[in-house]
Amino acid sequence: MKWETSITNLNNGNEIIRGKKLSALIKSNTFTETIFLLFQGRLPKPVETKMFDALLVSSIDHGIGTASAITARVVASTKNSFNTSLGAGILALGERHGGAIENAAKFFIDNHNNKNIVETVKQLKEKKVRLPGFGHAVLVKDNRSIEVFKVAKKLGFYKKSCAVAVQVEKELNKISSKSVPLNIDGAMGAILADMGFDPKLMKGIFMVSRVPGLVAHIYEEITNDAGLRRLGEEEISYIGK
Ligand SMILES: CC(C)(COP(=O)(O)OP(=O)(O)OC[C@H]1O[C@@H](n2cnc3c(N)ncnc32)[C@H](O)[C@@H]1OP(=O)(O)O)[C@@H](O)C(=O)NCCC(=O)NCCS
Repeated sequence: MKWETSITNLNNGNEIIRGKKLSALIKSNTFTETIFLLFQGRLPKPVETKMFDALLVSSIDHGIGTASAITARVVASTKNSFNTSLGAGILALGERHGGAIENAAKFFIDNHNNKNIVETVKQLKEKKVRLPGFGHAVLVKDNRSIEVFKVAKKLGFYKKSCAVAVQVEKELNKISSKSVPLNIDGAMGAILADMGFDPKLMKGIFMVSRVPGLVAHIYEEITNDAGLRRLGEEEISYIGK
């Protein structure tokens, strides 16, 4: 059985991507525009390029302390290959780190017309549900979310999902013991939903954004070569028999 695709046709060396000649894209389009073309099947309007670019920049890296950067660097420090280290970093993404975006977007879309969102948030909180896209291990406010929302407002992408996200953040903070900011997963989920992206694609978009950061961490790790990474004895507490 033939494999069908509407993404790319090699066409005797004259590559066509989503109906556009790759030779023309090379000359006239940016990386961000071409990623949008791949994912949406059409080139973006200028405002969409600006918004998509801002989102890709916003989560490009978040420091050496993140689970994905730690994992990528530990694996690189054991003298694995670059691709193994990068794969390991990607595998460290999950519902608590870089992987809340899809469920956050679904939640916002599902609640577009919820007139009782305050009650919904209260009930979920009582059930001890961690709402995807909210909270952060070390930040009390997430400046990345604040900045991308400013861009969304300016460019006309602050719509129903963004409004739900802001309302949920407000209610959640009234009833939580610590600050629960809208984090970058939540902000990306809201804006991408308001841009018309399918939530199923959104974790992939986060990965596209974070891969350059992980590549930089692996490159630094192998260049500086601090030796084998492992926990120090002072960081380990034996609680067994
Ligand atoms: C990111 C995360 C793991 C950080 O956890 P943490 O800072 O250790 O927070 P804790 O789990 O200790 O919770 C502390 C308080 O904040 C509340 N809280 C934290 N995140 C919450 C969330 N997403 N929804 C509802 N309440 C939340 C907890 O209920 C608790 O309040 P309470 O004592 O009044 O019940 C957590 O916020 C979370 O699971 N968020 C959802 C997943 C997500 O968005 N991940 C992407 C992160 S960029």
